[in-house]
Amino acid sequence: MLAVKELKAGYDKLKVLYGVSFEVREREILAVVGPNGSGKSTLLKAIFGLATVHGGKVVFEGEDITGLPPHVKAKRGLAYLPQIGNTFERLTVYENLMMAGYTLSKEELKERMEEVLSFLPYIAPYLGRKVWNLSGGERQMVAMAMALMRRAKVLMIDEPTAALAPKVVKKLLRKITELRDVLGKGVILVEQNARSALEICDRALLLVAGKQIFLGDPNDLLSDRDLARTYLGVK
Ligand SMILES: Nc1ncnc2c1ncn2[C@@H]1O[C@H](COP(=O)(O)OP(=O)(O)OP(=O)(O)O)[C@@H](O)[C@H]1O
Ligand SMILES: [Mg+2]
Repeated sequence: MLAVKELKAGYDKLKVLYGVSFEVREREILAVVGPNGSGKSTLLKAIFGLATVHGGKVVFEGEDITGLPPHVKAKRGLAYLPQIGNTFERLTVYENLMMAGYTLSKEELKERMEEVLSFLPYIAPYLGRKVWNLSGGERQMVAMAMALMRRAKVLMIDEPTAALAPKVVKKLLRKITELRDVLGKGVILVEQNARSALEICDRALLLVAGKQIFLGDPNDLLSDRDLARTYLGVK
């Protein structure tokens, strides 16, 4: 569904990524892990069109979309969920969902909303609440709901579990696996919490200082003691 080929990117002239390549298929979670500042968030931003691409390309459903602006990529079915600022905080949950579905007809909107709330029933009781009154985990659910309102096919999620209580982390990661298993989505999951991301993903990408050090079976990464210990703090 999504193929990233030899992507080099950064901010204006600043180089951050030195050639990253991978694919994400339907029903697949790719976990992107690596130390702070290694370029994980930059990778998502470059794919979505929010960082400077210096070379390589992004192919979505067989089409080169590298240079398209973010809103066009979103329309094609690519969603980017940044760690913060992924919702409209001053609006209610309901208004956020409506915003996400603003191009839909009234009937479609109603149908889509029901679909999304049946997948994410946790947020149903909060529809009338302003997002800034929600917990971190609930906000992540709202961001996910917004992507689903647009029927995103690939969701790129940046550190959704940062600063959440362990119980909430578990719930959120379970929902992410359901994005794959129930809805058939492709997911790129950037996680600080390397072990839990590696446990749920199908493939893992390790970035270190903007270079792709590993791409493959997450179990191979976990069992590579040097890599796992040096870069991920996994024993
Ligand atoms: N908007 C920006 N302008 C200039 N440099 C930036 C910008 N955003 C990030 N960088 C730099 O790019 C490099 C990679 O940052 P990035 O945020 O992609 O890392 P990360 O792997 O997501 O780190 P973390 O785990 O802390 O979130 C860092 O050196 C950072 O300082
Ligand atoms: Mg980051």
